[in-house]
Amino acid sequence: MSPNHLILATLLVALFVDLSYSQPIPDLCRPHDKNVLLRIKKLLGNPSSLSSWDPNTDCAGWNGVRCNIEGHVTMVRFEEDQDIHGPIPSFLDQLPSLTKLYFDTVPNLSGPIPSYVGKLTNLTELTISRTNVSGPIPEFLGQLTKLTLLYIPSNKFTGPIPNFLGQLKKMVFLDLSSNLLTGPIPISIAQLTNLTTLDFSSNKLSGPIPDFIAQKLKKLAILDLKFNSLSGPIPSSLGFMPGLQSLGLVGNQLSGPIPKSLGRGNLHFIYLSQNKLTGDAAFLFEKTNTNILTIEVGYNLLRFDFTKVDLTPSLLGFNISHNMIYGSLPKRFGLLRPDSIDVSYNQLCGPIPNGRRYKRVDPIIFAHNKCLCGGPFPGCK
Ligand SMILES: *[C@@H]1O[C@H](CO)[C@@H](O)[C@H](O)[C@H]1NC(C)=O
Ligand SMILES: *[C@@H]1O[C@H](CO)[C@@H](O)[C@H](O)[C@H]1NC(C)=O
Ligand SMILES: *[C@@H]1O[C@H](CO)[C@@H](O)[C@H](O)[C@H]1NC(C)=O
Ligand SMILES: *[C@@H]1O[C@H](CO)[C@@H](O)[C@H](O)[C@H]1NC(C)=O
Ligand SMILES: *[C@@H]1O[C@H](CO)[C@@H](O)[C@H](O)[C@H]1NC(C)=O
Repeated sequence: MSPNHLILATLLVALFVDLSYSQPIPDLCRPHDKNVLLRIKKLLGNPSSLSSWDPNTDCAGWNGVRCNIEGHVTMVRFEEDQDIHGPIPSFLDQLPSLTKLYFDTVPNLSGPIPSYVGKLTNLTELTISRTNVSGPIPEFLGQLTKLTLLYIPSNKFTGPIPNFLGQLKKMVFLDLSSNLLTGPIPISIAQLTNLTTLDFSSNKLSGPIPDFIAQKLKKLAILDLKFNSLSGPIPSSLGFMPGLQSLGLVGNQLSGPIPKSLGRGNLHFIYLSQNKLTGDAAFLFEKTNTNILTIEVGYNLLRFDFTKVDLTPSLLGFNISHNMIYGSLPKRFGLLRPDSIDVSYNQLCGPIPNGRRYKRVDPIIFAHNKCLCGGPFPGCK
């Protein structure tokens, strides 16, 4: 050891000894913030999930609580608690440094979002998920301009998607799914140019899929609008979005042909089942579609010849059930895993390629076609 190393080692040992013999570390959490949390706990009726919120311990160590270096509470998370009843608790607005607030799986939390939530202007993330919180999405949320995440699925929110959401320009992740929202997708959403995930699925939205989604939301990777009442055509602009990986439009009233642009090869997942789409969708399955992994177009009105399709090698599975697709199954079909396909209820005919591979599968995935043979069915003549 060189003298320098020796000095360093001695210093380190001294430091270690000094630390281990020092007084108990004082609370990191400020008394004011700790008292606010204890009042919230009492207000909620001392629920079991908050048993670690013990006045004799530092609140920086409590379950679902984080503090910053100055001792201010920055995050509070309430989760998986059926004992918590009543509205979103007051006093939260007395934690001015709060940046993250989560209510996750608190099924008996109810009432509308109270107006003091609008005062939490430091919030960057707000989650209200799997609760009984109801009422419209209130206008004062438009004051939370630092929000990057608004995750409020599986509640009882009603009314339209409000225009003021467009004021939340920093938003990256917006999920309003599984509520009771009505009306169209408002144009103000076009201002959320940093969005990567937009999930409005399982509501009661109506009207068209607006073109501005593709034109303005250039960073979107996931677009999920499934299980609404959206109508009109699928805008071809969606296929030109450079970063879009997953498109979910299942269970709407969409009509017209599937735009050719969706076969250009950016998307990994295309979910279009249970609509009223018509025409030829062969191009979706073709070699040009180089990144596609999954295609679901079941329960539509598609009519085309499947015979000549040169299936893209990237494809892992597809579901074309309940259409009017005719011809025979394409050759490369025989490479797909049986649990990832469904071609039932079409007008297909001829041998199932690589039929031996499908001998023991449930024939339901091939059922109700014109004259498929081999595989789980008797051999071809
Ligand atoms: C936001 O947080 C900062 C830093 O913690 C704090 O100084 C400020 O008062 C907070 N703003 C509001 C409106 O509470
Ligand atoms: C949900 O809230 C409504 C009123 O907002 C209430 O009538 C109903 O009992 C609540 N349900 C549960 C499971 O808490
Ligand atoms: C609380 O929520 C659970 C789960 O949703 C439900 O079974 C229970 O009845 C609720 N309790 C009350 C008092 O609403
Ligand atoms: C959008 O994101 C970029 C990169 O993360 C950031 O520099 C920009 O400030 C964000 N825009 C808004 C309006 O927050
Ligand atoms: C294929 O899609 C239809 C419509 O969404 C669905 O009902 C069916 O269960 C799917 N088949 C398989 C094997 O998942």
